[in-house]
Amino acid sequence: PIKAVILVGGPSRGTRFRPLSLNVPKPLFPIANQPLLYHHLAALADVPGLRDVALIGFFEDAVFAPFLDRVHLDFPTLNVRYLREYQALGTAGGIFHFRDELLRGNPRYLFVLHSDIVSSFPLQQMVAAHAARPQGALCTMLATRVPAETTQRYGCIVAAQDGQVLHYVEKPEFYISDLINGGVYLFDTAIFNVLAEIRAEKAAAAAALAAVEWASSRDSLNSYDSAPAAGATQLRLEHDVFKQLAGTKKLFAYESHEIWTQLKSATSAVLANTLVLQHNKRRRSASICVESLKGPQVVGAVSIHRSAQIHPTAKIGPNVSVGPRATVGPGVRIKDAIILDGVDIKANACILSSVIGWNSKVGKWARVEGTPTEATATKLMDHGHKTQTSTVIGHEVTIADEVIIRNCIVLPHKELKASYRDDILL
Ligand code: GDD
Ligand code: GTP
Repeated sequence: PIKAVILVGGPSRGTRFRPLSLNVPKPLFPIANQPLLYHHLAALADVPGLRDVALIGFFEDAVFAPFLDRVHLDFPTLNVRYLREYQALGTAGGIFHFRDELLRGNPRYLFVLHSDIVSSFPLQQMVAAHAARPQGALCTMLATRVPAETTQRYGCIVAAQDGQVLHYVEKPEFYISDLINGGVYLFDTAIFNVLAEIRAEKAAAAAALAAVEWASSRDSLNSYDSAPAAGATQLRLEHDVFKQLAGTKKLFAYESHEIWTQLKSATSAVLANTLVLQHNKRRRSASICVESLKGPQVVGAVSIHRSAQIHPTAKIGPNVSVGPRATVGPGVRIKDAIILDGVDIKANACILSSVIGWNSKVGKWARVEGTPTEATATKLMDHGHKTQTSTVIGHEVTIADEVIIRNCIVLPHKELKASYRDDILL
């Protein structure tokens, strides 16, 4: 059998995803009208022999409970559970901590997926690729190409012709390669022996360091304040594991040419949504892409929740999702956007390259926009907070009639009565 882990992180993280993460933890943010993790689970459900999925993170248990109650209806073959770390243990630390649980039933392979990515998740291809590797291969990693100027944000891979990872450098300062770690790994469960060794080495090194520090600070009054072993509990795949495996014929890359992006900042949600909608449309995934038959003009990849009300004279798409109970008035134009639950868009408003938060209201003839998509796809990756490429509106914001909001981030509960551009509205 094969098991799977999704690393969901926890509440101390995801600050860049504000204001959208104020309502919902990022792993549950709706992409193409489904929680982000739903797309991971849909791919896992298609892998033969895969039944057990563990979400590992340091959120409160209650955070995922409603989602978990629902997923077994959508994926009856999967047994999905949440395993909570008592603190952030690192990308390998949680997996190691729950090793008994994960190894129960003697699985041959373990998939590990980051939560904060969208991908076509070519999991079965990864299994096939891994099976063709020489004996002793411990990991096949999803790899993808990104624009050269963005590579320092990722784990960079230098691979041989046969896919063997020769060098792995996490977030290098200088350009090494545009082939990067895509955040999906297939491990042979023999990896747990390696994790145990690395952990023991780290613990020994930390203890030695602590002894030196203790000896040198013996005279100071505060010598008992420090907790020397704390650093040893974090175990990171990127820093502690992949580097060691590179160049030893144990780590391989599987390069995907299909959709992939990271979901870090709130502004990156529009691109993530676009890629998933387009991917689903190509696969004609009817369950996710509900196209309304009666009325509104729908262009390209669009997902409209069946409880949304769209006026027949509105034009929607491409790359738009409209959430539950949203209402869209006459003459409205929406393109490259995420309209969340309960949003109310009045007549003739125009929404481009934007996320409109839960229960927000957009007035008549108002315009809410980011920069156009062609630019978004490339520029999104380069900019942090200062130049927003999409506009992101938090929940319960009211936008007055006829105002223009361009390239802004708007925090919840604001009332915007004037126009703004290139701003963060607190
Ligand atoms: N359970 C748990 N515990 N999950 C964690 C922890 C932890 O201590 N730390 C991070 N994660 C989860 C995050 O929620 C996310 O899903 C994933 O692990 C990776 O997050 P980061 O550690 O923030 O790394 P990153 O996204 O900046 O970079 C990683 O992903 C890139 C691809 O998206 C690296 O693996 C890069 O090499 C890679 O290119
Ligand atoms: P910066 O600190 O801005 O550099 O980013 P970060 O490290 O805080 O965010 P990152 O994207 O690395 O965090 C990713 C993980 O944080 C996600 O996979 C989620 O598990 C988690 N996360 C994201 N948003 C939230 C949130 O609003 N609340 C909570 N509780 N967790 C979140």
